[in-house]
Amino acid sequence: MARKKIALIGSGMIGGTLAHLIGLKELGDVVLFDIAEGIPQGKGLDLAESSPVEGFDARLTGVNDYAGIEGADVCIVTAGVPRKPGMSRDDLLGINLKVMEQVGAGIRKYAPNAFVVCITNPLDAMVWALQKFSGLPKSHVVGMAGVLDSARFRYFLAEEFKVSVEDVSAMTLGGHGDDMVPMVRYSTVAGIPLPDLVKMGWTSQEKLDAIVERTRKGGGEIVALLKTGSAYYAPASSAVAMAESYLKDKKRVLPCAAHLSGQYGVKDTYVGVPVVIGAGGVERIIEIDFNKAEQKMFEKSVEAVQSLTAACVNIAPQLA
Ligand code: APR
Repeated sequence: MARKKIALIGSGMIGGTLAHLIGLKELGDVVLFDIAEGIPQGKGLDLAESSPVEGFDARLTGVNDYAGIEGADVCIVTAGVPRKPGMSRDDLLGINLKVMEQVGAGIRKYAPNAFVVCITNPLDAMVWALQKFSGLPKSHVVGMAGVLDSARFRYFLAEEFKVSVEDVSAMTLGGHGDDMVPMVRYSTVAGIPLPDLVKMGWTSQEKLDAIVERTRKGGGEIVALLKTGSAYYAPASSAVAMAESYLKDKKRVLPCAAHLSGQYGVKDTYVGVPVVIGAGGVERIIEIDFNKAEQKMFEKSVEAVQSLTAACVNIAPQLA
């Protein structure tokens, strides 16, 4: 059987890390795409030259023409610009929206059967626009945010409890921003919910609240440390987990920005909810019960996402 083909649209920091992980995990051949000439080719060759040492077989190539992604089984999109000092949220939205229009056209033409994972920020609005621009089925276009936010939450919890990260399961829902909703009641250590662990004296409510807050600001914490960029290792790992679940039909339950068409009382909006990812793409959207406080937080987060999609429609009325 021929190897799977994975196209990485955007070959910056996350793109390069994605290619490395995909090679190491032998998920398939990789095509790196970018508008910058030489970057995808250089990264592809450098990574290919690591393959004899690491012992993986994959073709890793770089292109500047969308024809190179033809027939891709998976596309992971990081193309765009990060927010720079002096740039407003709307400036960033306008620039990356144009990028999504180009990327959507490229995928529509050359990889219409792909499973597409979007990482470009502002995430929930960009994945919503990318689905519309590409015309691909909603089940096949998802946004990566929840796996990353939940991984940060899991890591902080594992540190607090001094247990293996493997035994901490956590869920972070809603939009990818300060209004995200870390689901304390549904996060556990070996099946024991966090509120029970507080009762058991494993941690205090104050410490747990601080971890939730740190999770919400997890992206900013990395930006403040790096100064010249944003996180790329954990975002790349998170997107690869989603792609792997699709390629191997693992049917993992992962929090992803998925298209809601009435679930949770929300229509035509991409926002983070638990989904099952398998060979059919998003095979199921899981609707969990919220308590009043969670419902309020989720609604606030959805409103923040919808204000961004409304701003997208102002710029590109064809998205309405
Ligand atoms: N088409 C294709 N590639 C593009 C385009 C475009 N129209 N515009 C920019 N790019 C490329 C850039 O040339 C760059 O190589 O996208 C790449 C982005 O890489 P980085 O700037 O290194 O950003 P990265 O850290 O990889 O993050 C990418 O993910 O987390 C989000 O906010 C982050 O939106 C950003 C994205």
